[in-house]
Amino acid sequence: MGETEYARQRENLMPAVVVVGAQWGDEGKGKVVDLYARHADAVVRYAGGANAGHTLVVGGEQVILHLVPSGILNEETECVVAQGTVLDPDVLLEEIATLEARGISVASRLHFSERAHVVLPHHKLIDSLRENKAGAIGTTKRGIGPCYEDKVARRGIRLGDLLQPKELRSRLARNIEAWRPVADALGGTLPAPDEVATAYAALGQRLRPFVCDTARLLSTLLSQNKNVMLEGAQGTLLDIDHGTYPFVTSSTAVAGGACSGAGIGPTDIDGVVGIAKAYATRVGHGPFPTELENALGERLRQAGSEFGATTGRPRRCGWFDAPALRLAVRVNGMTRLALTKLDVLTGIDPIQICTHYDADGQPLSEPSFDSMRSVTPVYESMPGWSQSLRDCATIDDLPEPARAYVHRLEELVGCPISLVSVGPGREHSLGEVNPFTELGQL
Ligand code: GDP
Ligand code: IMO
Ligand code: MG
Repeated sequence: MGETEYARQRENLMPAVVVVGAQWGDEGKGKVVDLYARHADAVVRYAGGANAGHTLVVGGEQVILHLVPSGILNEETECVVAQGTVLDPDVLLEEIATLEARGISVASRLHFSERAHVVLPHHKLIDSLRENKAGAIGTTKRGIGPCYEDKVARRGIRLGDLLQPKELRSRLARNIEAWRPVADALGGTLPAPDEVATAYAALGQRLRPFVCDTARLLSTLLSQNKNVMLEGAQGTLLDIDHGTYPFVTSSTAVAGGACSGAGIGPTDIDGVVGIAKAYATRVGHGPFPTELENALGERLRQAGSEFGATTGRPRRCGWFDAPALRLAVRVNGMTRLALTKLDVLTGIDPIQICTHYDADGQPLSEPSFDSMRSVTPVYESMPGWSQSLRDCATIDDLPEPARAYVHRLEELVGCPISLVSVGPGREHSLGEVNPFTELGQL
């Protein structure tokens, strides 16, 4: 194919868009992806596992998804769990059953990558035992870390392996044996390979109808000019490379992870939407410069229902951290931001924004290596508002101080805010709801 012809073909492609967490997770990715999904032909989870908890509220009913992409409530949308994720078969089957019980058909539009690694019982065991020891990360205990450890140690079990029962037993024996010194040191008992092989071969058979080469499926969809949305899990500050290491998850949560995680090229991606709360939260241990360990933090927790969707743990709450967001805008190549939970700030006056950090007298505009451990946040005050935001239909309906707050955040982080969320429901969304278009002004 001639160069010009190739370029023309690429121009015709409809965009693929990444939706990525810009903070420490739980920014409202599920809500925003569900809202955007009406414009998407496919929604793809590309990283993480059942450590994620994505909440959708449609028609007043709440659905929490851990592995199934948040596009599933749109009956026309294909949902793909790609090879960058780690899959717990029990969770997948439970989610499928829950969705079907709600009358949502998943049979022909849910696809799981044969290359995705499988979370095994001993992954969860080791994860939990480690959490009882000094140096705990505050993980979700879903076996995510040990599963990714097996993946990079090149001894992991992939979904496709569950469909090859003959080889599965010996693969599992080798895998389980590798964990023996760790289990012994932690005082845990590993499962018998035969039992795991029998149970997981059976789970594999139940999942078989959903298993395929999802990277090829996505290439086909993109070549047919379909809109593909890549749904991030966790958040930038939990990313294995860019987050507050070692208090991070074990996968590439940032937008770049969508390429290897879903099996598409960087040139396929045309937009990156970051999701950020109008304040900040974090679950688990690790640095959090703007944390409010006081009555105001508790107020945010109650007003925002800040309790983990996966573990139920109370989330740590604090002020909006602009330096953290600048890092997220930069490393994700963010083209626009969706700001969620603005309604939670109603009645708080004044509202503080961390504009930069003070590091031993030096101003820092972004977190640097290890700096989040030791910096002092520097704040700017903005006036609050007392009116409920729930009935606002457009950005113009927001009270003036709320609009000023949104615009100030935009200015401080250097990325346009195209969507403002003022409640958990699909309907509580102001601004641009089609991310597959050129950016409109708020
Ligand atoms: P995710 O992991 O990024 O998908 O976020 P979670 O679902 O873990 O947490 C976000 C929580 O905030 C969920 O309970 C949502 O229903 C809720 N939520 C999302 N957007 C808004 C909003 O604008 N206002 C309020 N009050 N709640 C929201
Ligand atoms: P969503 O997709 C918030 C946190 C854990 C812990 C650290 C490592 O819902 O935003 P892990 O179990 O991954 O080994 O835990 O990462 N964590 C999350 N925090 N939201 C998430 O996902 C998270 N997934 C992992 O609390 O601090
Ligand atoms: Mg969550």
